[in-house]
Amino acid sequence: MAEIDALVSTLRDTLQSASQGGGEKFRIRHAERGKLFVRDRIDLILDAETAFLELSPLAAHGLYGGEVPGAGIVTGIGMIHDQPCMIIANDATVKGGSFFAETVRKHSRAQEIAQEHRLPCIYLVDCGGAFLPEQDRVFPDRDHFGGAFWRQCQMSAEGIPQISVVFGGCTAGGAYIPALSDQVIMVRGTGRIHLGGPPIVKAAINEVVDGETLGGADMQTTVSGVSDHIAPDEITALQKLREIVANLGDGRRIAPPSMPPVPPKADHGTPQDHAPVDLKRPTDMRALIHSMVDGSELSEFKPDYGSTLITGFARIHGYPVGILANDGALFSESSVKGAHFIELCDQRQIPLIFLQNITGFMVGTEAERGGIAKHSAKLVYAVATARVPKYTVIVGGSYGAGNYGMCGRGFRPRFLFSWPNARIATMSPDVASTVVTELRRASLKGSASKQDIAELDAKTRAQFEAQSDPYYATARLWDDGIIEPNQTRDVLGLCIALGAGLEQDTGPRPVYRM
Ligand code: COA
Repeated sequence: MAEIDALVSTLRDTLQSASQGGGEKFRIRHAERGKLFVRDRIDLILDAETAFLELSPLAAHGLYGGEVPGAGIVTGIGMIHDQPCMIIANDATVKGGSFFAETVRKHSRAQEIAQEHRLPCIYLVDCGGAFLPEQDRVFPDRDHFGGAFWRQCQMSAEGIPQISVVFGGCTAGGAYIPALSDQVIMVRGTGRIHLGGPPIVKAAINEVVDGETLGGADMQTTVSGVSDHIAPDEITALQKLREIVANLGDGRRIAPPSMPPVPPKADHGTPQDHAPVDLKRPTDMRALIHSMVDGSELSEFKPDYGSTLITGFARIHGYPVGILANDGALFSESSVKGAHFIELCDQRQIPLIFLQNITGFMVGTEAERGGIAKHSAKLVYAVATARVPKYTVIVGGSYGAGNYGMCGRGFRPRFLFSWPNARIATMSPDVASTVVTELRRASLKGSASKQDIAELDAKTRAQFEAQSDPYYATARLWDDGIIEPNQTRDVLGLCIALGAGLEQDTGPRPVYRM
């Protein structure tokens, strides 16, 4: 089996295992309470036979002793009555659906995408609030839980609907998700909303009360008015939710492409055939592009200049795109060519796709004397200020400032996905081990034995290897998920479709020839 096939197979197994949430014991308990699993709830609200683009399914992977699969929350984009919606759904089988740092990040990232694309937010709430032992990483800071509520208010004020269905005991932060929603449905018997649950009430005011009396669906719907609808069971609640979405007015629709989609030609192989697994060996990046774009047609820009960056126009699922793909290190020429191309796309309102396989910008005396610092900065500047939607896929390495020039996470691409063979770090383990040893040589002085140096080298190498692993990255939400190479075209098509037809700043922008 080719190495990439093994990596894809591992990815599938890892995703399957994460989709089981908190494991057998908690799944049985959940089912015994008559509750549906989080993914079944999502299936029931989406239009039949439509895609669900799940985001960051491996958040928190390998963290907390593996006890928080998916960070205890499922997020993604799906269609309800032909409208694209953002689904944000707690998995109560994982620590009662409580929020860890990665849960907050995943929840907030989904909201950020929803706000940027004006997608109604559907919250399927089953949530015990902040995971208390981790409260210092969840509660106090700007981008912690409070930031998610701030964004929820902003979205509602901007006319982006916020709808909640409450399935379980929702306490503190868990209660605020429905409380700040435009419309709320609760399930009788299991759904509860209380700012402070019974233990908090006991601790704070020494009142002893059961959860149902304190915040049950009947009380919150008929007495307090916190909830607008009560449903006898989960299925009825989910049907009611679909009814609410059907009545959101004209709602948000996806703008169709200007040309019919054309599949890539079969003789170009699949993206998986061209995945750069061994980053030390050159990859045929043109073949990779041809295997992904409509009709395998790429109209290259400046093919005879700055050849380590391929730039060109193509279509994906009928939508026009401008593609930038690395084919070696970025030199001054390739950097200014990239900046020029970005300006062209920005002027023509063509979304940009970055296919990252980058060791970095060129270093050395010749490069510095040629002004690599200012020329690379032009590319970075163009990426940062382009007004068109940007999408990034890390198909190989993503090292150093090359990550910035190729629209890494800091440059706010609309979406960023990685392949299972990806690597992301300031530098490769080989380079890092040399650099760190060199940097420390002065403080180690003459006292360091060969063995000390070898140990430092091995330690640095091991650190960089572990931290540049795509699972390490996706666990920390540095991307929106690891995808299979052969899913890339469809995933990008969906993302571009979501951005199509949205209002854009279309004021004039000159193209400065570089
Ligand atoms: N912080 C820390 N741990 C939490 C938690 C929280 N907010 N919410 C749930 N958990 C943990 C439980 O300790 C338990 O872990 P364990 O099996 O390792 O002991 C696991 O999640 C499941 O909780 P459990 O209470 O058994 O599940 P449940 O389905 O019966 O009830 C809740 C779910 C959410 C209603 C209930 O756990 C609850 O009320 N949680 C606390 C809410 C709270 O006080 N939040 C305040 C946050 S500021």
